[in-house]
Amino acid sequence: MSLAVQIARQGGIEEMKLVDVAVGEPGPGEVRIRHRAIGLNYIDVYQRSGVYTLPTPLTLGMEGAGVIEAVGAGVTHLKAGDRAAYASNPPGSYSEVRVLPALAVCRLPDAIDFDTGAAMMLKGLTVQYLLRRTLPAEGLQPGDFVLWHAAAGGVGLIACQWAKALGYRLIATAGSEQKCALALANGAQHAINYRAENFAERVRDITGGAGVKVVYDSVGKDTWEGSLQCLRPFGLMVTFGNASGPVPPFAPAILAPKCLYVTRATLFAHIATRERCQAMADDLFQAVGGGQVKIHIDQRFALTDVQAAHRALEARQTTGCSILTL
Ligand SMILES: NC(=O)c1ccc[n+]([C@@H]2O[C@H](COP(=O)([O-])OP(=O)(O)OC[C@H]3O[C@@H](n4cnc5c(N)ncnc54)[C@H](OP(=O)(O)O)[C@@H]3O)[C@@H](O)[C@H]2O)c1
Repeated sequence: MSLAVQIARQGGIEEMKLVDVAVGEPGPGEVRIRHRAIGLNYIDVYQRSGVYTLPTPLTLGMEGAGVIEAVGAGVTHLKAGDRAAYASNPPGSYSEVRVLPALAVCRLPDAIDFDTGAAMMLKGLTVQYLLRRTLPAEGLQPGDFVLWHAAAGGVGLIACQWAKALGYRLIATAGSEQKCALALANGAQHAINYRAENFAERVRDITGGAGVKVVYDSVGKDTWEGSLQCLRPFGLMVTFGNASGPVPPFAPAILAPKCLYVTRATLFAHIATRERCQAMADDLFQAVGGGQVKIHIDQRFALTDVQAAHRALEARQTTGCSILTL
């Protein structure tokens, strides 16, 4: 049996309930993992509230770290006793023990502790595929401007550091002066409080009127139009989240004046094969192990206090990463 946080139907924070669930043996291609820490992500809010429709009852959570207890037939990259971490579908990491597909579960290097492993996989692999694999047609070169919204959050603080390591001039947006200071301290070259200032005007000034080559936008509805204004001709609009609500339908013709490109990116398309997932994880482990990227765990909540965790995340009260502890 395992303690788990389940919802019987999608809805508000109060729908999350602690329940006991049976945990069986892993089937072919699966592993059973005993969590030592669990990652909290904004996607958990979409899955709880119904922004993303999922069948219920549902154990939430897409990220965790722990010790492998058993492996199913055909799993060769893990064995019982291994330290491991993952970002993975289907949800289910808000639990003590679970069974899940082994495909996206990676061995955790000894130098990385469980809390860090649980905090960094979903957010770090996301920054990996965005900065390394989601690029404008002519690529990104050192010195290029990129715009990154919500840059003081879990994904955002990793992006600030990784972009600096790659030599990009990251312009951060964030929702308070304190969050802007945090983004700057982590490698952003400029920071704009988008609750107080018009970020599109500031970006135009910072780039001397030229605009940025890429916008990485996880805020969605509230920033969509301003983000398009920030792009230079042939620029790439990467929309990868909906913290303020989904981007409404739009006419492709709005892209025409600047010949803009748009992609709606998701991590799970990138980590769909074991080989690519491991290659991306190795790149992330190197960035963290080598010190270019530090994982800031700014909030810790007990698994039993998960409602407080979601309340803080939705109220924009968190910075960096948050984990659930057991
Ligand atoms: N597509 C993918 O592959 C993928 C993968 C991972 C994450 N994501 C997305 O990336 C984003 C960041 O994820 P995260 O887990 O690291 O979360 P996070 O950035 O730590 O938290 C979300 C942040 O969004 C900002 N925000 C702006 N408008 C908001 C609103 N109306 N309500 C709530 N928050 C608002 C807030 O920062 P400010 O106060 O600074 O505005 C808030 O702290 C999320 O949108 C997530 O869905 C996408």
